[in-house]
Amino acid sequence: MANDQTLPGKNDLIERYWLPFTANKAFKADPRIMERAEGHYYFTQDGRKILDAFSGLWCSNIGHNHPKIVEAIQKQAAKIDYSPAFNFAHPDIIELANTIAPQFPGDLNHMFFVNSGSEAADTALKLAIAYHRIRGEGSRTRLIGRARGYHGVGFGGISVGGMVNNRKFFGSLLPGTDHMSFPYKQDEQAFTKGMPCIDVEPYMRELEEMIMLHDPSTIAAVMVEPFAGSGGVYVPPEGYMKRLREVTEKHGILLIVDEVISAFGRLGAANAATKFDVVPDIVTMAKGINNGTVPMGAAIIQEKIYNTFMEGTAFGVEFFHGYTYSGHPLAAAAALAAQDVYQSEGVYQHAAEMIPYFEDAVHSLKGEPNVADIRNIGLAAGVTIRNRGKAGDRATDVFKATYANDVYVRNNGDDLAISPILTFEKADIDRTIEAIRSAIKSVD
Ligand SMILES: Cc1ncc(COP(=O)(O)O)c(C=O)c1O
Repeated sequence: MANDQTLPGKNDLIERYWLPFTANKAFKADPRIMERAEGHYYFTQDGRKILDAFSGLWCSNIGHNHPKIVEAIQKQAAKIDYSPAFNFAHPDIIELANTIAPQFPGDLNHMFFVNSGSEAADTALKLAIAYHRIRGEGSRTRLIGRARGYHGVGFGGISVGGMVNNRKFFGSLLPGTDHMSFPYKQDEQAFTKGMPCIDVEPYMRELEEMIMLHDPSTIAAVMVEPFAGSGGVYVPPEGYMKRLREVTEKHGILLIVDEVISAFGRLGAANAATKFDVVPDIVTMAKGINNGTVPMGAAIIQEKIYNTFMEGTAFGVEFFHGYTYSGHPLAAAAALAAQDVYQSEGVYQHAAEMIPYFEDAVHSLKGEPNVADIRNIGLAAGVTIRNRGKAGDRATDVFKATYANDVYVRNNGDDLAISPILTFEKADIDRTIEAIRSAIKSVD
């Protein structure tokens, strides 16, 4: 048992657990252990009741342990624990494709299931490159992402992603990726409510120049989020997505939109494609697809792309890609139940009604000490906290002080992010904002 000698003490069992995207040393000095969850709350091992103002990690859109989802997972586990993902299907995954596809606009109508947002991103990028190759345009391999973008942690996702810490440790990444600027200038636009109304054309010109530099015939896809979520809740201007669609279409470049956060109610609508009236070529999703209960993601793909794969291969496998747990029965059952709750309980409508109240509430933090910017879209907001010299030093203290006030939000560097459960009432929003306000005031 040589390994045990490396453990600091008998009770320090947490040492063996390496937490993802976490300052492990700081966490282990003062762990936060969630033991149970229900509705809008987490219940910690040390007996506290924490308001979840981050929807888990942007995923528990209707809160925790909804009885219909719990029952669906339990029943499915007893009925079919696993179904081979390759060469076989099960009824629920077929029903799920038919439940979700009609929620998306235009010819987005074929669904490929995966287990996470990262896998959905890599799947979409591979689809784009292979699609062009099958059509005889194999030179279209370059990918364009955007600064502040987050598309998970696979090599594809971090290559088109625009968050420096997620990229800089991992070598040269995918060759042939470029990044557009993010269309937000804090010094000109700080404290904008909702989507900024600024001229998008300079950003489109930048993209056109990038395309011309390489020639359109080398570019496979542009990938963006409707708004930068994990990158700190940065909101593109009105009309940006529509113009992006026009520019990509003009050059035969696929537009991939990452709706891992924005789909299933965060914007008070089924998805951003519907809300912004834009039909991307591929949309990725995960998280809220089944309320974050069992790992699941998906890509929804336009008819023309699906047909290209089907018609381009005379015999055998059309797309050499997939995961053992693609379309897992437990995840599918949870998703069917979550989708049912979203509709039957009017969750998107409720979210839409709360958005103006949430906007006013979060912007009431303007003027509090060290608040440098506030941005919001749908039920998502970012509050930039001035640092003391090291990125995120003060914002991390604000996150901790908010948690000490029994409210959970998150910070990414200097940006505090708020992602309320979509069923929050005004009182829950008030409580969230007041917990943050008092935290901000308490931190030097
Ligand atoms: C926009 C976006 N894409 C992809 C991902 C990655 O999802 P996952 O952590 O499920 O791989 C996330 C996660 O936060 C996300 O916000």
